[in-house]
Amino acid sequence: MSKYNFDEIIERRGTGAIKVDALEERYGSTDLIPMWVADMDFKSPQAIAEAIIERAKHGVFGYTKTSQEYYNSIINWVGNYHDWKIKQEWISFIPGIVKGIAFAVDCFTEKDDEVIIQPPVYHPFRIVPTLHHRTVVDNPLILEAGQYKMDIEGLKKLITSASKLLILCNPHNPGGRVWTKQELIDIADICYEQNVLVISDEIHSDLAFAPSKHIPFASVSYKAEQNSITFMAPSKTFNIAGIVSSYSIVPNDKLREQFHAYLSSSELESGHIFAYLAAQTAYNEGKEWLSEVKEYLWENIKYVDNYLKENIPQIKAMIPEASFLVWLDCRELNLSQPNLVSLFIKDAKLALNDGSIFGAGGEGYMRLNIGTPRANVEKAMHNLKAAIDKI
Ligand SMILES: Cc1ncc(COP(=O)(O)O)c(C=O)c1O
Repeated sequence: MSKYNFDEIIERRGTGAIKVDALEERYGSTDLIPMWVADMDFKSPQAIAEAIIERAKHGVFGYTKTSQEYYNSIINWVGNYHDWKIKQEWISFIPGIVKGIAFAVDCFTEKDDEVIIQPPVYHPFRIVPTLHHRTVVDNPLILEAGQYKMDIEGLKKLITSASKLLILCNPHNPGGRVWTKQELIDIADICYEQNVLVISDEIHSDLAFAPSKHIPFASVSYKAEQNSITFMAPSKTFNIAGIVSSYSIVPNDKLREQFHAYLSSSELESGHIFAYLAAQTAYNEGKEWLSEVKEYLWENIKYVDNYLKENIPQIKAMIPEASFLVWLDCRELNLSQPNLVSLFIKDAKLALNDGSIFGAGGEGYMRLNIGTPRANVEKAMHNLKAAIDKI
């Protein structure tokens, strides 16, 4: 028996949670099961709240330095959990990974330079460079036997002298792939030789389900290490996205100097009291909670997969190797994208992400967040079946 009660339904309405309190604004109704924004509906490890409360009791909240304990917690976590030995000077706090991507785009590319992404992929990979007036170039993933793989030959062909950056989602959102070492080595070789800097977004890395094991991009080869910026965070792992406590890891001296100079010119590397405290507490004390939550998530994934197979075989779940997002292949329903979205929202009363926002290859898909008590997942599946039975 788990000592954590992930079945507990916690009311999030009225807390400012985007997932529930922005339903009206985004979906035109509050009467929906919220299964979109990628946070979970579970309480974070208790030690985090306790550390914050204890610190808050002090009552003085002045400027706060980055503590040695914070750095140690990251070095130990990345070393122990991902077998990647990193040095303290490689690490910098950043105020969020999407922001980190924007900083890297701004720091390492110029207007109209090409930024390569591999859709379908987390939509800010496309939106952020576009809003910075860069040219986003797609190297779409290849769908093979219900799973994505990278188009390595395609990548070789599309790189030009204007290609400056490749943004890698490692592990992948929305498909949940934990990329193989060979795939990462191939990306590293091509990008190193063509002078394309790799930004590896590893926010979902701690949530890989055994036997899948996350491989940090920079750890696969010298070329990967010397030509990359890695972003990690305890935010998805321990459900503390609202605290904002991400960090970058840059092993290459020259790239690091440039990136850290960029960050410090606007004091972007400076976190807040609770960001450091929450991150170090999570890493130092959250391992057991993480292992339990992963078991619970895995059961939810299996439930969805079995339910669909038995009751809605027209929809197929792509089983994630990491994280709590399930990519639903709804193409066999033969609905236009607006009708598919309407089926989920209006008929089934489910707030999911419209697959088309993830770019090429996303049409016909919806993204389901199963980071919620089983009862919600069950209700969602029943609603979906009832809606589909009426088509
Ligand atoms: C791949 C990926 N990167 C980044 C983020 C967001 O990170 P942050 O909140 O630190 O900007 C998400 C959230 O869903 C994500 O899935």
